Amino acid sequence: MELKDVIKKRVSIRTFTDEKVPIEDIKEIIRRAGLAPSINNSQPWKFIAITNKDIIDQMGNAVQKKVIELFPHNNKEDKMLAQAKVLRFSTFFMDAPVIIAVEMRPYKMVVESLLDESKLSFEDVERLRSYPNIQSIGAAVENMILSAFDLGYGACWLSGLLVAREELEKLLEVKSPNTLVACVAIGKPREKVEQREKKNLSEIFKLIE
Ligand SMILES: Cc1cc2nc3c(=O)[nH]c(=O)nc-3n(C[C@H](O)[C@H](O)[C@H](O)COP(=O)(O)O)c2cc1C
Repeated sequence: MELKDVIKKRVSIRTFTDEKVPIEDIKEIIRRAGLAPSINNSQPWKFIAITNKDIIDQMGNAVQKKVIELFPHNNKEDKMLAQAKVLRFSTFFMDAPVIIAVEMRPYKMVVESLLDESKLSFEDVERLRSYPNIQSIGAAVENMILSAFDLGYGACWLSGLLVAREELEKLLEVKSPNTLVACVAIGKPREKVEQREKKNLSEIFKLIE
């Protein structure tokens, strides 16, 4: 598919058929994710593909437990609905044939060697630069999702599940100083999903001449 068509047709997919994703396709998606731009070309990522149904179930159960623990409802209908929605958007990945977890490694900034003489800390620079390592991960995840569509799959970016980050890191053996920062669910779409409405150009664009 042409790049512009992939970009225009991509939509978050949250229901999947049972069809497996061949390992060669998983590897190709991750290969393309690894081509994304990153701060100082640090490539601060590692991708873990999980196809084991038992592990995916354990991930989902950990997230479900955590959502209920962290976001209790008070038996009012609107709160119950809100919790149900949070649960759905955090755990639907349990039906996906493959989850790709993204592990982030701390990176070294060029400017770091100048911080001894500066009043800024590493964290200050991170904040000023709007977390370049997280931005790099975003670029890789978008590559991954677009590549999944290009290869005929559906996909959805997942951050809701990170409420159970500690439990998931343990399960997936992500060890400090690395952290789990995102996941992507991939599979053949079970149903056709309409494109979500997007803002038009005039709402998102400003030209400074
Ligand atoms: C950083 C990020 C985190 C997201 N986390 C979740 C999530 O946890 N669960 C979910 O169902 N969708 C998640 N999404 C998907 C968004 O909800 C989705 O992109 C948005 O509703 C727009 O729909 P579209 O992707 O179909 O255009 C996430 C998207 C981004 C960019």
